[in-house]
Amino acid sequence: MSAATKDIKRITTHILQQMKQDGEKISMITAYDFSMAKIYDDAGVDIILVGDSASNVMAGHETTLPITLDQMIYHAQAVVRGVSRAFVVVDIPFGYYQSNPTKALDSSIRIMKESGAHAVKLEGGKEVKEAVEKIIASGIPVMGHLGLMPQSIYKYGTYSVRAKEEDEADKLVHDAIILQEAGCFAVVLEKIPATLATRVSADLHIPVIGIGAGGGCDGQVLVSHDLLGITKDFNPRFLRRYLNLYDTVKDAVVRYIGDVKSGDFPNENEQY
Ligand code: KIV
Repeated sequence: MSAATKDIKRITTHILQQMKQDGEKISMITAYDFSMAKIYDDAGVDIILVGDSASNVMAGHETTLPITLDQMIYHAQAVVRGVSRAFVVVDIPFGYYQSNPTKALDSSIRIMKESGAHAVKLEGGKEVKEAVEKIIASGIPVMGHLGLMPQSIYKYGTYSVRAKEEDEADKLVHDAIILQEAGCFAVVLEKIPATLATRVSADLHIPVIGIGAGGGCDGQVLVSHDLLGITKDFNPRFLRRYLNLYDTVKDAVVRYIGDVKSGDFPNENEQY
């Protein structure tokens, strides 16, 4: 955590806005359970996202589509219990906001009331404008998400870089402005060219958080399981792995199994 934000008891949308104005980069990471969220919060991360990537990394689904609102609330409740400083954002899962703004508001109210989180996130621009406005009118902060939107994976057919062509880039710029005007406090840009993300970050007055969108954004987010090396087969260019936890954990469990089999564990000091 930086010197400027070290003494802050709780990160708020207002502080995130101030960080953008001051040029202080915003750190964001995903979490899905109490224990890990507590570690990330103690480390001083600014935003914790209870991402619908839980569908992939926690439940083992191929996409984010199957996770339910009840499951997201369960993860969010656990995360909120572990966090005292970070701002906690929860993804509204696929199918719980697209059909109409009232459904979007009802889903958001359930997330806020039942989990104690601080904001919700949803994917899309113009298509979700009314939903965003309705949620914000009820007092719930909304984070937008543009570029690669994993809930639309079957529309794209691929997880490759988005908005490389002029038409899609123009729509993204337009959508980012729509989200800002609708009242979003921040926007995530996923897997788009760095030049485009830099331009959007400069154009918007709200913070822009990038994932695979280059260093010109106001902050960065990574899926914790990728950053820690728990996932092994996901190796996009944008990912920096800070640990190889898959092998570390596996080695520890292999040693434990060996000790149990050989009778070395438990020893005399490890029994009553
Ligand atoms: O669900 C998620 O983890 C996300 C991040 C990739 C931004 O939306």
